[in-house]
Amino acid sequence: MNSQGQTGHPGRAFRWLYIVSVAALLFSGIGQMPIFKRYYLADLPGLAWTADFMITLVIHYIAAAVFLALVSYYLVTRLMTRSLSPIGRKGGIRGVLFGLLILSGVVLVFRNLPAPILPPGLIVGATFTHVAAAMLFLLAAVTVLRFGKK
Ligand code: HEM
Repeated sequence: MNSQGQTGHPGRAFRWLYIVSVAALLFSGIGQMPIFKRYYLADLPGLAWTADFMITLVIHYIAAAVFLALVSYYLVTRLMTRSLSPIGRKGGIRGVLFGLLILSGVVLVFRNLPAPILPPGLIVGATFTHVAAAMLFLLAAVTVLRFGKK
C-alpha cells in the first residue's frame, strides 16, 4: 500500500483509519465518563452495550492501538519526506492535543494495571489532562467542520 501517494499526502486508507479510530476513541472515551446510561442513549434498541464499561474500554484500547500506529507511521514518513515543511497553526494545535492525549493516555493505561505503581497526583493530573484535551479536540474538530479551514 502506498499510503503516502506521490504528493506526500496520506492516502485514502490512512485517512479512513484515522477518522474511524479517532471517532471510536471519542465515542468510547465519552462512554467511560459514563454518560450514555444517564442520557438514555443506552436505552435505545441495540445500544445497551454503550453503558457497559468493559466493552467501551476494550473499544478504546483497540482504537488507541490503531491510532498510535497511524501517528507513528505519519511521524516516520513525515521525517523521511517532508521534515522541513511547516505544519501550520491547525496542525500545531492538533499535534499538541494529540501529544497530551497520548502521554496522559499511557499514564492511564499504567494506572489500570493491577499493581499500584504510580503516585496519586500523577493519576489525577493525567485524568484531568486526558479529559480536557479530549474536550478541546472535540471542540476544535467541530469548529473546523463547521467553519472550514479558516
Ligand atoms: C483522540 C484521542 C483520544 C481521545 C479523544 C480520548 C478520550 C478519552 C476520554 C473522554 C476518556 C474518559 C476519561 C475519564 O472518564 O476519566 C478516556 C479515557 C481513557 N483513555 Fe483516552 N482518548 C484518546 C486517546 C487515548 C490513547 C492514545 C490512549 C492510550 C495510549 C488512551 C487511553 C485511555 C485510558 C487508559 C482511559 C481510562 C479508562 C478508564 O477509565 O479506565 N486514550 N479517553
